[in-house]
Amino acid sequence: MEEASRPPHHIAIIMDGNGRWATARGLPRLLGHQAGAQAVRRIVEAACELGVKALTLYAFSWENWDRPPDEIQDLMGLLDEFVRRETHTLLANQVRLRAIGRLDQIPAGVLSNLRRVIAQTAQFERMTLTLALSYGGRQEIVDAARRLARAARAGDLTPEQIDEAVFAQHLYAPDLRDPDLLIRTSGEQRLSNFLLWQASYTELYVTSKLWPDFSKGDLVEAITEYERRDRRFGKVGA
Ligand code: FPP
Repeated sequence: MEEASRPPHHIAIIMDGNGRWATARGLPRLLGHQAGAQAVRRIVEAACELGVKALTLYAFSWENWDRPPDEIQDLMGLLDEFVRRETHTLLANQVRLRAIGRLDQIPAGVLSNLRRVIAQTAQFERMTLTLALSYGGRQEIVDAARRLARAARAGDLTPEQIDEAVFAQHLYAPDLRDPDLLIRTSGEQRLSNFLLWQASYTELYVTSKLWPDFSKGDLVEAITEYERRDRRFGKVGA
């Protein structure tokens, strides 16, 4: 069982509210996503400055593939633009980029660019920025089960050898520690299929701020609230 980390080692964020932000201003949803991409830039920088070691952003869910094709195209375009534009910032700040999800669904051009920057930043340790793309927590668990079934069929392990640790080794990023803090913007109080395995003992923090409005100050507020929490991991408090 993991130990509590203070300040949080790993922060995960469900970036919600781009559409509402745009609608409230009478703007098309795309402009909400553009403002959301600006917030991504801002928060990556802030997390780095605050000494956060791992930041995982829910950038495109498995369920998001059911959105209208135009919106999917816009989101993939913004992702591609973000990766291209921010490459030098990631390199300059020694940020390692990773991606989790069913990445084979991502358009080939976007994916190859993403994989290039992932490779270019693989040696960095200041902060790991993980983008959850084409990602679903249930899908990740199913994919892990498939890998385990294949390994068992090949005779590489027996069903009895499968425990929590072995199972976790077959998730998308086994070396990434479980998130300490999960932030969700725009008020909804649900996990929406994000990091279902990893968030078992994660502290949840919901703010009514819409993602495009989320600032460094809001991140500091979430971390301060986290530091006040008493994490017991199912045990009796100290
Ligand atoms: C939720 O807004 C947000 C998303 C669908 C994904 C997040 C995408 C971005 C922040 C833009 C670009 C990403 C990167 C990595 C550059 P919503 O459309 O669900 O908002 P709503 O619930 O108000 O409609």
